[in-house]
Amino acid sequence: MNDTTSAEVSTSYVGSIAPHGGTLVNRYLRGDMAEAAREMACSLNTILLSPMNISDVELIACGAVSPLHGFMGQSDYRSVVDNMYLTNGLPWTIPVTLPVDEETAKDIRIGRSVALAEPTADGIIHTLGVLEVSEKYAYDKTIEAEKIYKTTEDQHPGVARLYKQGDVLLAGDIWLFDQPLAAKTEFPEFRHTPSQTRRLFARMGWRRIVAFQTRNPIHRAHEYIQKTAMEIVDGLLLHPLVGETKADDIPVDVRMASYEAILRDYYPPDRVLLGVFPAAMRYAGPREAIWHSIARKNYGCTHFIVGRDHAGVGSYYGTFDAHTIFDEFNKDAIGITPLFFDHTFYCKKCSGIVSAKTCPHDASHHVVLSGTQVREMIERGEVLPEEFTRPEVSRVLIEGMRRKRQM
Ligand code: ADX
Repeated sequence: MNDTTSAEVSTSYVGSIAPHGGTLVNRYLRGDMAEAAREMACSLNTILLSPMNISDVELIACGAVSPLHGFMGQSDYRSVVDNMYLTNGLPWTIPVTLPVDEETAKDIRIGRSVALAEPTADGIIHTLGVLEVSEKYAYDKTIEAEKIYKTTEDQHPGVARLYKQGDVLLAGDIWLFDQPLAAKTEFPEFRHTPSQTRRLFARMGWRRIVAFQTRNPIHRAHEYIQKTAMEIVDGLLLHPLVGETKADDIPVDVRMASYEAILRDYYPPDRVLLGVFPAAMRYAGPREAIWHSIARKNYGCTHFIVGRDHAGVGSYYGTFDAHTIFDEFNKDAIGITPLFFDHTFYCKKCSGIVSAKTCPHDASHHVVLSGTQVREMIERGEVLPEEFTRPEVSRVLIEGMRRKRQM
């Protein structure tokens, strides 16, 4: 889109850690440029984005996935899938791509722009911006499944999504003139962009910041590893993922209420910032752990918590695969420091939260519940054991899920 390429591509950054690649990307157009692009978009072919791609355009535009300016071209895609690096030499483990079906792809011309839009609940299309199409290419879903998810089984939620998506990938830089609806309506007060978190950290005088990724309520084990990390840094960015998750994960609005409940009663307010991470969950385990940590570096965090089976699902990954994958990279190239935690739980004999590293007692003394057990208890309205989850959190979860059932 030639008339807007003079817009500012990136912003200089504040904070104690450089963004990935050195520059914080900003692909939001403002003022006259936004208006011109909006007008031009009316005459373009429109691509209707999936929930994951809506999240991806938000991540790209706000700089969370710096240095990406748009959806990956074929050489970057192949390099990421095969080698876990972008072609510019930066570590990158997750493809950020825009799939369309062959029929749609036929009408799209390289070198032209297309409009990017999201469907809305009332059936109206909401146009967000444009993609300057630089390539369209075919790709091998089985190879992507094997390399990224370590399985080709479609029971894996990430693989299932991959198999269902279109067979052609569109590549090119994006420019947004509007935010996705979710960004405006879902937790706007917590939707800090990377440049905003960086400024907030600076204002609070935090130089060492640990980020915590989660797609679950905060149980006692999460609280323990966060607070252990907080002992050696200035502040915690509690950064729940709020994009698409699998259907049986706890819904995001219920989770958000549970985060606010636990923060209110159990965390020092001047040491924690609650923000939302607008990504969709891939469930890619170790590869996603690297990607999550790089994104949190872009948000200005210096440390990142990686616990047991980070971003895992079922038994597709080894408990500590998300730790050992960091050994495959040069530490300076990743930049952010991972803080690894072993399996953590309450031990009745120790009378406290401990980990496999610190507890000498056998499993009969440990209070461990699976995700399925937790969900079933919440559905039945049963308060979770206090050793597992704070009662304030249990109550919010039970009430939130009860309301969901009535909707
Ligand atoms: S994730 O998909 O976002 O990784 P979850 O919200 O369960 O899922 O986990 C958030 C973080 O806490 C991850 O780094 C995960 O490895 C870690 N974690 C979760 N439960 C435990 C536990 N019992 N012991 C140690 N680490 C844990």
